Amino acid sequence: MTTYKIAVLAGDGIGPEVTKEAVNVLKIIQKTEGLSFEFEEAPVGGTAYDQTGKPLPESTLRIAKQSDAVLLGAVGGPKWEPLDYSVRPERALLGLRSELGLFANLRPATVFEPLIDASTLKREVIQGIDLMVVRELTGGIYFGKPRGVSKLPNGEEKGINTLVYTTREIERVAKVAFELARGRRKKITSVDKANVLEATELWRNVVTKVHQNYSDVELSHLYVDNCSMQLIRNPKQFDVILTSNLFGDILSDEAAMLTGSIGMLPSASLNGSSRAEAACRGMYEPVHGSAPDIAGKGLANPIAAILSVAMCLKYSFNQSQAAKKIERAVAEVLEKGYRTADIFTEGTRKVGTKEMGEAICKEIR
Ligand code: IPM
Ligand code: MG
Repeated sequence: MTTYKIAVLAGDGIGPEVTKEAVNVLKIIQKTEGLSFEFEEAPVGGTAYDQTGKPLPESTLRIAKQSDAVLLGAVGGPKWEPLDYSVRPERALLGLRSELGLFANLRPATVFEPLIDASTLKREVIQGIDLMVVRELTGGIYFGKPRGVSKLPNGEEKGINTLVYTTREIERVAKVAFELARGRRKKITSVDKANVLEATELWRNVVTKVHQNYSDVELSHLYVDNCSMQLIRNPKQFDVILTSNLFGDILSDEAAMLTGSIGMLPSASLNGSSRAEAACRGMYEPVHGSAPDIAGKGLANPIAAILSVAMCLKYSFNQSQAAKKIERAVAEVLEKGYRTADIFTEGTRKVGTKEMGEAICKEIR
């Protein structure tokens, strides 16, 4: 039996609470599916900064690199906001992404039927949304050089960030998106700003070229401003949205909010098997942040972390059956009326982090 090594980087705020429930789910899956996992914990983010002076200590990076997959909770909090950019908790995320080469970020947005009324949009607009944002994660304006703030001779300051993409960077993330689309509704919308930004005109051209090998998939292109509008107007038109780092950051938050339950959404960051379903190393984390206001109170919703574990089983370990089992258990528990505070409505049953995790484990069993 293969033993999968999983690095558990729980991080800050509610990170440790939700990650604990996610690990518990994996321990159950281990028994029911006959799999074997080995967990190794390491500090990351503000917690790591407090312990070592660095948000991503070398030892943590080493553990992450030696694992088959990384589970990440959340990083950041008001305590560390005054720190210099170079040691902010968020740097740990960017460091892990680039050091592990996690260039493809998958952010699904699906609507859970029992929670449909939690959205600010009309039921008929969002019912049945099932889309996936594929965001390029290790390039673009997040990493481009030159960057920084400098002084001009006249005493003014000048800030620069640079949007850079190479053919290879675009090709590899486009391939992930096309492979993914093949297992879905076979529709990709590539999002750029090719009418203004040359680097994204290259994006459009390269994606069009990659499409030649995937003629069974339908490809269309949208400018990012139009896409953000279409997402609100008629989100059901989308299957896979493929886009650059910064646009993906923004559009994935918008897509998450459509569902009315950002606390429920998982994500995967992959480093490049050409078949998206094949085993490869990746990092899995909830889309929500560290929620410092409710940290340590046992109130946080562990579902995003638990669904992240399901993505890990699917994309890193090629265990789609086990992943489906978790997804079904989550749906079942919601159907039964279990709700953490963030998704609570009259007439449902309010539970804490631990109870929610336990209910899901029980369902899996
Ligand atoms: C995200 C976050 C990060 C990003 C921050 C925390 C660096 O917003 O994962 O979407 O901008 O990528
Ligand atoms: Mg973001």
